[in-house]
Amino acid sequence: MHYNIWTASSLALLLFAANEGAVVEACQPVRHKHSTRLVKRESAPFPMPLTPDEEALVRSVSNTSIADWSYYYTHGQHLAGRNQSMAQWTADRWAESGIASGLVSYNVYLNYPVSKSLRLRHARNGSVIFEPSLEEEVLEQDDTTSYPDRVPTFHGYSASGNASAEYVYVGQARRTDFQRLLELGIPLEGKIALARYGGPFRGLKVKMAQEHGMVAAVLFTDPAEDGDMTEANGHAAYPEGPARNPSSVQRGSVQFLSTYPGDPTTPGYPSKEGVPRTDASVVTPRIPSIPISYADAAPLLSALDGHGIAGKEVNRNGWVGALNATYSTGPAPGVVLDLSNVMENQITDIWNAVGIINGSTHADETIVIGNHRDAWIVGGAADPNSGTAVVVELARALGRLVAERGWRPKRNIVLCSWDAEEYGMVGSTEWVEEYLPWLNATAVSYLNIDVGASGPHPYLSGTPELHDVAVEAMKKVLWRGTNRTMYDVWNEENQGHIGTLGSGSDYTAFVHKGIGSVDVGSGGGASDPVYHYHSNFDSYHWMTTFGDPGFVTHKSMAQYLTLLAYRLADADLIPSNISTYGAEMSDYFTDLEETVQSTNSSALDLSLLRSAIDDFSRQASALGAVQQQLISLLTHGAEQNDDDALLARIKEANQKSRDFQRGFVSQGGLPGREFYKHVVFAPGIDTGYAPTTFPGITEALVQAHNATLAEEWVRKTAAAIKVAADIVKP
Ligand SMILES: *[C@@H]1O[C@H](CO)[C@@H](O)[C@H](O)[C@H]1NC(C)=O
Ligand SMILES: *[C@@H]1O[C@H](CO)[C@@H](O)[C@H](O)[C@H]1NC(C)=O
Ligand SMILES: *[C@@H]1O[C@H](CO)[C@@H](O)[C@H](O)[C@H]1NC(C)=O
Ligand SMILES: *[C@@H]1O[C@H](CO)[C@@H](O)[C@H](O)[C@H]1NC(C)=O
Ligand SMILES: *[C@@H]1O[C@H](CO)[C@@H](O)[C@H](O)[C@H]1NC(C)=O
Ligand SMILES: *[C@@H]1O[C@H](CO)[C@@H](O)[C@H](O)[C@H]1NC(C)=O
Ligand SMILES: *[C@@H]1O[C@H](CO)[C@@H](O)[C@H](O)[C@H]1NC(C)=O
Ligand SMILES: *[C@@H]1O[C@H](CO)[C@@H](O)[C@H](O)[C@H]1NC(C)=O
Ligand SMILES: *[C@@H]1O[C@H](CO)[C@@H](O)[C@H](O)[C@H]1NC(C)=O
Ligand SMILES: *[C@@H]1O[C@H](CO)[C@@H](O)[C@H](O)[C@H]1NC(C)=O
Ligand SMILES: *[C@@H]1O[C@H](CO)[C@@H](O)[C@H](O)[C@H]1NC(C)=O
Ligand SMILES: [Zn+2]
Repeated sequence: MHYNIWTASSLALLLFAANEGAVVEACQPVRHKHSTRLVKRESAPFPMPLTPDEEALVRSVSNTSIADWSYYYTHGQHLAGRNQSMAQWTADRWAESGIASGLVSYNVYLNYPVSKSLRLRHARNGSVIFEPSLEEEVLEQDDTTSYPDRVPTFHGYSASGNASAEYVYVGQARRTDFQRLLELGIPLEGKIALARYGGPFRGLKVKMAQEHGMVAAVLFTDPAEDGDMTEANGHAAYPEGPARNPSSVQRGSVQFLSTYPGDPTTPGYPSKEGVPRTDASVVTPRIPSIPISYADAAPLLSALDGHGIAGKEVNRNGWVGALNATYSTGPAPGVVLDLSNVMENQITDIWNAVGIINGSTHADETIVIGNHRDAWIVGGAADPNSGTAVVVELARALGRLVAERGWRPKRNIVLCSWDAEEYGMVGSTEWVEEYLPWLNATAVSYLNIDVGASGPHPYLSGTPELHDVAVEAMKKVLWRGTNRTMYDVWNEENQGHIGTLGSGSDYTAFVHKGIGSVDVGSGGGASDPVYHYHSNFDSYHWMTTFGDPGFVTHKSMAQYLTLLAYRLADADLIPSNISTYGAEMSDYFTDLEETVQSTNSSALDLSLLRSAIDDFSRQASALGAVQQQLISLLTHGAEQNDDDALLARIKEANQKSRDFQRGFVSQGGLPGREFYKHVVFAPGIDTGYAPTTFPGITEALVQAHNATLAEEWVRKTAAAIKVAADIVKP
C-alpha cells in the first residue's frame, strides 16, 4: 500500500483552506502548520561534487537492468503468501551481487477472495435496476490484465457475509461524515454504506460503518481524485490516454490499521507456526465490504438522487464528487443492494528476503533498507515493484563497489524484501517483532521505499534527525535525465517540506520501536497521467507508456537511495542531526498550543512538555558540537597514537545517535493501542495513514475530549523526551 503523499498534501492544503472546524483539521494534520525551518536554497554548485565511490555508484545504476527487474516482478501473481519463488529470486539477485541473502518466513493469518456479487434492485417486485460488473476490463494492449491467474477485485481481511438492504451514501466515511449524517437524521442502522475512497485509510471507513450499525460497505473510486486528468476534461482513458480507465478498482486491506498492523492474530509477537492466536476481529471488520469502480458506482449514486439530503446541503468537504449525480445521502425507499462476499481464511506462510553486508568497524550499528514485494495484482509496476526494482539495482551498485573498489561499509547494511505488506505491513512487523533485541541494540535507521515511481514528483518523509542527510543526497542526483538535480525539483515543488510518518508502509513497525526512518518515492500530481492504485492497470504496460517511459524516474530514485544508504553506512560519524528533532518538536508544540485553544482546553498545563523539549534541544546542540569537533579531528588527522581514543569517542557519539529515539517509545503504548509507542508521531486514530504529532495529548483533546487523559499524556510525553535527552547528553 502506500499513501500518495504528493497528492495527499495538496489535498490537505485544500482542506485547510476550506471552512472546516479546527477540530477536524487537528485530527488530520497531514502537513503541520509551522514549517518555519524549511530547507534553505543554497548557491553551491549543482549537482554537488561526488567522491570517487559515489561517482562509481551513480554510474553503476542502469535503466536497462531496472527495466529487466521491473518486467520480472510485474509478470507473475505475487499476492501476499502466494509466490515463494519470487522471494527466492530476489534473494538470488542480491546473492549474485555478493550479498549473503536468504528467506525468513512467518506463518500468518491472511484471507483470499472466493466469490462476490452485488445487485441493485427494487425490493417490492424484485426487478433488477443494475448489476455491476465488479471486474476490471481486459485490455488487448496490456498483457497482464488478461492473465488467467489475475487477482479478482476484493478487500484483504474483509469479512464473508451477505446483506440485502437499502443503502446510504456516507461521503468519505470519516467519523465527522457520520456525525453529520446523524445530525441530518439519516437512518444508518441496518443499511449498507456506499463510500468514496480518499481521506481515511479504507479499513477505518468500514470500521466507522460497522460502529454505526451498518451491515456492509461498498467503496468506490471517484474521478474527482484525478485532478485535471479526466475524460470530462477531454483526456482519453487508459489504455488510449492518461485518464483513469472507468473500470479500474482499488483493491486493498480493510484492517483497522490505526489499532495495530501486522498479523491480526499475533499482536506484539512473531507469527511462527504453532504460536497462540487471538481473535482477529479486534482489527478486522465483522461486516462484509467490496471495492467497485466509478463506472459501477455511477448508477448506485444516481439511484439515490432526490432521496435523503442532497450533497450540496450536506455541505462537507470531499462529499460531492465528479460523477453525474447529486451525491444525495439516500436511502431511496424500496431500492436495495444485495451484496455477498465470500473469503477463504488461511493461516499460511509468507516470505521475506533478507540480505546482509557486515560492517567493517561498527558491527553494532545497522542500516536497514526495505521495500515490500507483494502486490494486489499481477502487475504492481508502481506499487510496490518500482521500489523493488530500485532495491535490486541498489544491491547491484553496492555489490560492484565491493567487488571493483574493495569497499566495505563501516556499519552493517541489511536489505529486506517484505511480503504481505499490503494486508497490513505483516512481513515487516513480524520480522521486527522477532529480531527486536538485535534491532534495538544495533539499528541506526530504516530506509523505506514503497512506490518508487508512479509519477515525476519526488517526495520525502522521515524522522527529523534524518532530514539533513536525506536532503543532501538529493543534491547529488540529476533528476530524470535532465540537468536539474532531484533537490532542485523537490525543493521547488515542496518548498523544502518533509513529511512526518504516519502509517501506510513498512517503516511503521520500526518507528514505533524507536528506530528513525525515512520514506522516499515519487508520485503524480493533478496534471500527470492517472496512476491506477491497486488496480490491474498498475502494470508494466502502463509504466512504460505513461508512468515512467524509459525508467528515468526509477533510475534517479535508485541513484538517490543508493547514495543515501552509502552515506549512512560509510560515514565515520552517523550523519544525523539531532538538533532538527528539537526544532521540529518545537513546531509541533506550537501546533499543540493551537489545538489546546481550538478545543477550549486552556486549563491544560504544557510547561512540563515545553521544558522537556528545551532540555532535549540543549543536549542535541551539545552533541552536535562534539560531532563537529570529532569531524574536524578526523579531517585534520589526529596524532597516530590517539587513534584508539578517537575511535572510542566516535563510538560513543554514534551510540547516542543510534539510541536516543528509543527514549520516545519508553512510556508503553498510546491509549487503547499499545503497538503505537512513539510519543511524537503516530498515525491518526481516525485517519490511519495521516500522522498526528504528540498523539497521546492531541487525541486526548480532539478525539477523547478527556482532560485527565490529556494531562496524563503531557506527563508521559515529557518523560519520554527527557529519557531521549538523557541519552543524547554528551
Ligand atoms: C511468481 O512470479 C514470477 C515472476 O513474476 C512468475 O514467473 C511466477 O509464475 C510466479 N509464481 C506463481 C506461483 O504465481
Ligand atoms: C418495480 O417497482 C418499481 C418501483 O416500485 C417500478 O419503478 C418498476 O417499474 C417495477 N418493475 C416491474 C418489472 O414491475
Ligand atoms: C446527468 O444525469 C441527468 C439525470 O439522470 C441526465 O438527464 C443528464 O443527461 C446527465 N448528464 C450527463 C452529462 O451525462
Ligand atoms: C449469500 O449470497 C450468495 C449469492 O447471492 C448465495 O449464493 C449464498 O447462498 C448466500 N449465503 C447465505 C449464507 O445466505
Ligand atoms: C556477519 O557477521 C555475523 C555476526 O558476526 C556472522 O555470524 C556472519 O557469518 C557474518 N557474515 C558474513 C557474510 O561474513
Ligand atoms: C532497548 O534498548 C534499551 C537500551 O538502549 C533498553 O533500555 C530497552 O529496554 C530495550 N528495549 C527492548 C524492547 O529491548
Ligand atoms: C541545462 O540548463 C540550462 C538552463 O539552466 C539550459 O540552458 C540548458 O540547455 C540545459 N542543458 C541541457 C543539456 O539540458
Ligand atoms: C534507458 O535510457 C535510454 C536513454 O535515456 C533510453 O534510450 C532507453 O530506451 C532506456 N531503456 C529502457 C529499457 O527504457
Ligand atoms: C542541524 O540542524 C540545525 C537546526 O535544524 C542547524 O541549525 C544546524 O546547522 C545543523 N547542523 C549541521 C551540522 O548541519
Ligand atoms: C469553545 O468555546 C467557544 C465559545 O464558548 C464555542 O463557541 C466553541 O464551540 C467551543 N469549541 C469546542 C470545540 O468546544
Ligand atoms: C479519562 O481518562 C482517564 C485517565 O486515563 C480515565 O481514567 C477516565 O476513565 C477517562 N474518562 C472518560 C470519561 O473516558
Ligand atoms: Zn505499497
